[in-house]
Formats: sequence, structure tokens, C-alpha cells
Amino acid sequence: MNREPKGILLCGGLGSRLYPLTRTTNKHLLPVFDKPMIYYSLSLFMIAGIRDILVVCGPEDRSHFERVLGNGDQWGIELQYTIQQKPNGIAEAFLLAENFIAGHPVTLVLGDNIIHGSNLSTILQTAVRQAGGATILGYPVKDPSAFGVVELDAEGRPTNIEEKPANPKTNLAVPGFYCYDDQVVEIAKSLTPSPRGELEITDINKRYLDEGALSVVQLGRGIAWLDGGTPEGLFEASQYIQVMQERTGMLISSPEEIAWRCGWITDEKLEKICASGEVRAYSHMLQNLLTYSGSHSAGSR
Ligand code: DAU
Repeated sequence: MNREPKGILLCGGLGSRLYPLTRTTNKHLLPVFDKPMIYYSLSLFMIAGIRDILVVCGPEDRSHFERVLGNGDQWGIELQYTIQQKPNGIAEAFLLAENFIAGHPVTLVLGDNIIHGSNLSTILQTAVRQAGGATILGYPVKDPSAFGVVELDAEGRPTNIEEKPANPKTNLAVPGFYCYDDQVVEIAKSLTPSPRGELEITDINKRYLDEGALSVVQLGRGIAWLDGGTPEGLFEASQYIQVMQERTGMLISSPEEIAWRCGWITDEKLEKICASGEVRAYSHMLQNLLTYSGSHSAGSR
């Protein structure tokens, strides 16, 4: 049976690298220029064509996420919520989401990852619809030791993957966008916590690697991967979004625009959203879409 891929959006953790900013506000709700950080990761699911998404967050934050994102109906998607009691590691998401996954392929996105650039929709759509196994991304960075790091052979097949190595053997970091078949739940159940006390996403990827079932899609120069986890990263991300949007007049990661382009909401609904004042920071840019693109038809956009 051909099952539709589902999504898990991970928004737990303490955000302690951003203290005092995150003492009372969850990191993923902080602004990245004109939108909450979480809009950028949510948009990755939407451009990849995933509409059934579970948001995982800490117990104090659930009501805030529900207020910001709702049930997704306004964007033609379906959002559910579950709680991670403590930051026990990224891979714990698959244990918390077992009933939600229910045998479907699943993509996990970290709520502090921002990815933008040319041809990204096609790349992500292909990755989430892989036939079995796992697919992760690889992105060259100056300092890979802060990330999962993957090594490839001459054919681009992964040969090794390590979490935050002190002496990285390559500059290819692994962004927070991971696609798996339904085996991932059983693999997560068999993990033990790492020395830092977390169920590591890299240990899941290692397991797929050992089975010869891990693929890596390399992101090239045309793509920007930003991470809002530190004050510097957060500031740079805001600057990047501001400069790109100002120059082109086009929005980056607006769930309203993506839903409209995909034909999940009508012109009338977009018009209503603009008029409601809910997205006042950028409603003029949404309004331009309606003015310049003519009548509503997903195929013509
Ligand atoms: O950003 C990509 C990197 O993310 C990968 O290259 C690494 O392999 C991966 O381990 C991860 O590294 P980080 O050090 O950035 O992970 P961090 O603890 O900052 O958490 C990343 C996101 O996941 C963040 O948005 C908070 C959320 N999170 C994290 C943990 C540990 C949770 O929701 N629950 C958790 O238990």
C-alpha cells in the first residue's frame, strides 16, 4: 500500500544557548525578521507536499504553539500536538509519535532550521518520497564540528556519520531535515542515551548506514541553510530574510503563500487572511500576489 509521508516538527528543548531570550519564550516562537522561527521549518513540510504534521513541544509551550499555528486549517494542512516532557534527545520524537506515524514514511524537521534556495521544493519532494530507507541532507559549512557530519565515497554514498566530532573528516554537515521509512520507530526503541544523556538522531542515521539504507542529498551553492539556535545565528537569519525579501519583493516561508500556490486555499481565503490583520507585518506582500498573479489556478503559478 502506498502511504502518504507524514511530518514531525520538533520544537522542544530549552534553547539555553539563547538565554536570557528564551527564559519565558520558546526559541521557535522568536522572530526571524517578520515571522516566528517556526514558520520557516513548517514551510519546509509544505513545499515538500507534507500536510499531516505533528508538532512536538514542551509542556509549558503547547498552548502558545496552538495559538500561533492552530489546527492548520487556515493553511489547508492538519496540525496535531504532543508533549515532550524533557529534552531527552531528538530521536525521542519517534517514540512520542509512534501512533501518529502508524506505518507511514515520516520526515522530521528541527524547528530551528531555516533552508531556502533554488529548486528546494523539488529536492525535498523527492527526498520525502524515497522508496524505503532513510534520506538526509548534506551541506558544506566552515565549522562542521557543531553538527552531525557525514563522509561520502567517490560515488556520493555515505561511509561514516558522526555527531559533533572534535576533528571532522569532512565539511559536510547534516541539516535538521530527515526522511525515514516506518522502521524508524523500532530503531528509536532500540537506542540507548549517548554520553550527553540524549537519544541521538545521528545514532538512527548510523543504523540505516550500517544496513546500507542511508542516502545523502547534497545541497549546493544555490541553497542557504541557517540555524537560529544562537544569538549570532538568529540575527544573521533575520538579516538574510530581510535582505532577500526587500530585494525581490517576494516572501520567504509564508505558510499563507505556499498554501495558496499549492491550491490548498483560494484567492478569497488569502484575501480574508490579508484583511484580518493577522499577518500585518507582510500582508502587503501577500496582497501583491493576488494583484499580480491574476485569477486563482495552482497550475499557473
Ligand atoms: O541543526 C542540525 C543539527 O541538529 C544536526 O547537524 C545534529 O546532528 C543534531 O544533533 C542537531 O544538533 P543541535 O546541537 O543543533 O541540536 P539541539 O540540541 O540544538 O536541538 C535541535 C532542535 O531540536 C532544537 O530546535 C530543539 C529541538 N529539540 C532538541 C532536543 C535535544 C527538542 O525538541 N527536543 C530535544 O530533546
